[in-house]
Amino acid sequence: MRFLARLLSVVIPLTLLIGGAANARDWKAIQESGTIKAATEGAFQPFNYYEGSTLTGFEVELAEVIAKKLGLKLEWSVVPFDAQIAALKQDRFDFAIASHGFTEERAKSVDFANPHYCTGGQIAAHKGGPLTVSALNGKSVGVQLATTYAGAAQKIKGIKAIKTYKGDPEAFSALRAKKVDAWISDKFTVKGTLDKNPDAGIVGGELVFVEKVSMIMPKGNKELAEKLNHALAEVMKDGSYQALSQKYFKEDVSCR
Ligand code: ARG
Repeated sequence: MRFLARLLSVVIPLTLLIGGAANARDWKAIQESGTIKAATEGAFQPFNYYEGSTLTGFEVELAEVIAKKLGLKLEWSVVPFDAQIAALKQDRFDFAIASHGFTEERAKSVDFANPHYCTGGQIAAHKGGPLTVSALNGKSVGVQLATTYAGAAQKIKGIKAIKTYKGDPEAFSALRAKKVDAWISDKFTVKGTLDKNPDAGIVGGELVFVEKVSMIMPKGNKELAEKLNHALAEVMKDGSYQALSQKYFKEDVSCR
């Protein structure tokens, strides 16, 4: 008996920790609370980043107009990118908007909203460095942990080493310090980073793959998905999406 009690005292909290008792808020609960909870990373410019102490970026502002359409306040959680899916499954927030590209693997554990932009993974390297997939043969590449860039790098044959970093700023710094020969990231993140660091001698190269990026939600939260998709469609119609797209990219980044 005592053994059983001791066993349960370990197993029950462990189950809670792993998320076994998690309970996603349904639309009704969200609406009644008046606040929708979103997570982002805050280190992926121009999508979600800090300007001084202010969280901003295309996705941050987009989520804000979406929440407004839904008539809800928005409460942000800033969570490391590689921890977001696990945290979402523990219902620490209602959705994440942090440039998640659609993958079959992710779709096994979370639901994707309709895409809010289309983009691609791009190689960057020092001038004269490996700027194409074939030039990566025998070279090392830096990528952010748990991203589609890490997945794409794993598929490139002949890469000597893949080094993973907590965030893209760290991956870029590693390239800058020549700890890696190349960096793979989002094409807009590469452009923004290179524009801000014109003296780094780093240039953008070949596009490795394209992807559709969406907000992610707990699996099976159908009404929430409908509401988010509807609000996204509305802001795409009323000009607010276009204004943000022009502000951050000077082009239309929607998936046309
Ligand atoms: N688009 C890439 C992916 O889906 C990278 C996303 C990284 N997001 C971030 N907030 N750092 O894996």
